[in-house]
This record gives sequence, C-alpha cells and structure tokens, in this order.
Amino acid sequence: MLKPVMMALLKLVRDPLITVKRIGLKKVNATVWDTEYELGNWDYLDSEANGKTPVAMLEKYAPGAHILDLGCGTTKNLPLNPASYAHYHGVDISQEAIERARALNRPDASFEVADIVAYRTTEKYDAVLLREVLYYLPSGEVPDLLERIGKILTPGGVLIVQIWNRVKFGMLLKMVRKCSLVVAEEVAEGHAWTVVARKPNVR
Ligand SMILES: C[S@@+](CC[C@H](N)C(=O)[O-])C[C@H]1O[C@@H](n2cnc3c(N)ncnc32)[C@H](O)[C@@H]1O
Repeated sequence: MLKPVMMALLKLVRDPLITVKRIGLKKVNATVWDTEYELGNWDYLDSEANGKTPVAMLEKYAPGAHILDLGCGTTKNLPLNPASYAHYHGVDISQEAIERARALNRPDASFEVADIVAYRTTEKYDAVLLREVLYYLPSGEVPDLLERIGKILTPGGVLIVQIWNRVKFGMLLKMVRKCSLVVAEEVAEGHAWTVVARKPNVR
C-alpha cells in the first residue's frame, strides 16, 4: 500500500509540470504552455523531422483531406504540401503556439485556441492528428476523446497518433488500439510510434 503511494508522490515531484498539465485546469494549463513556448522550451520540436511521418501517413491514407490537428503546436514541424490537402484546421490550448502557427501563413488553413478535452465541432474531417499531445490530457479523458474523433471522421477517414515513447506511454497505445477505429498501420521509429487508425468505410 505504502509503495504505490510513495511511487505516485515521487512521480509528482519528478514531473511537476506534466502533473499540473494532466489535472486539466484549462486556464492553468494554457498559462503553463504559453510560458513554456515563450521560454523556448519547445523550440526543439520545430524541426521538420518531427512531422515527416505524420505527413507521409496523411499523403498515403488521406490525400486531399480536410485535416483537423488537435494540440497542433506551432505547426512549424509540419511540412504539408499545399497541393496535398483541402483544408487544415489547427487547435491548441496555447495562444502563443497558435500565433506562431498563424504567422506561417499556411494556405487553406485556420486556427483556434481551445482545450481539446472540451472541444466539440459539427465539422467532418478526413484526417485527425494527435501529435505528441495525448500524454498531457487527463488519462481518463482519452477514451472519450478517441470516440468523439471517430464521430467527426468521414467514412474511411483516419486518425493519426504520434507518441515519442511507446514504452513509457504504452497505456495510450492500448487505448488507441482498443477504440472503435481500425488500426491500418503502425510505424515504430526507435522509441517513437505513429499509428494510423481508420474509420470503417460504411455510411
Ligand atoms: C509537445 S507539444 C506538441 C505540438 C505538436 N502537436 C507537435 O507535435 O509538434 C503539445 C501541444 O499540445 C498542446 N496541448 C496540451 N494540452 C492541450 C489541451 N488540453 N488542449 C489543446 N492543446 C493542448 C500544447 O499547447 C502543445 O502545443
């Protein structure tokens, strides 16, 4: 009994910011993310190498797609060819990240500041991206989010999930494999993992 409590406490002390983010308080969460972006803590993510696999999966499974990118960040690492998609919509809790994304003037793109846990839309999308974001959500919210994504995907549409460490975040991997979408491809690159899960093509 004592050991699990100690482990939980130690984890809390070791990863205080991740813990704060996972509690899911929108204002606090947004402020922490904005501050981290302003401090340059996430600049290393901006390399296009980080977006290469999701972009390749988009081109393979959803050419010409209406794309929704949840927890999109600055999007500097997403080398989307304008001819390869119909529209791109990025959503992020951080105003700072969204401002940087807007400044890129990506064609056929729109952006929105919102908490993806509470995010609802009546739009339909051919592809939804969850790149390096699931671990920052309260884990109890992830299955519901995946089910909601299933509902906004067009028939045959795909969810693309990117996780930098599939060993550390194996639970998330299991949640994606268990959701109502059908895994079409899994790409392992070192510890990193990208999965493409498709909505069955029935209307
Ligand atoms: C590690 S960054 C990844 C950014 C981008 N997806 C990428 O792969 O480069 C995580 C992003 O998720 C956003 N985020 C975290 N929690 C969120 C939430 N509840 N709603 C919306 N965005 C969130 C953060 O602001 C941040 O931009």
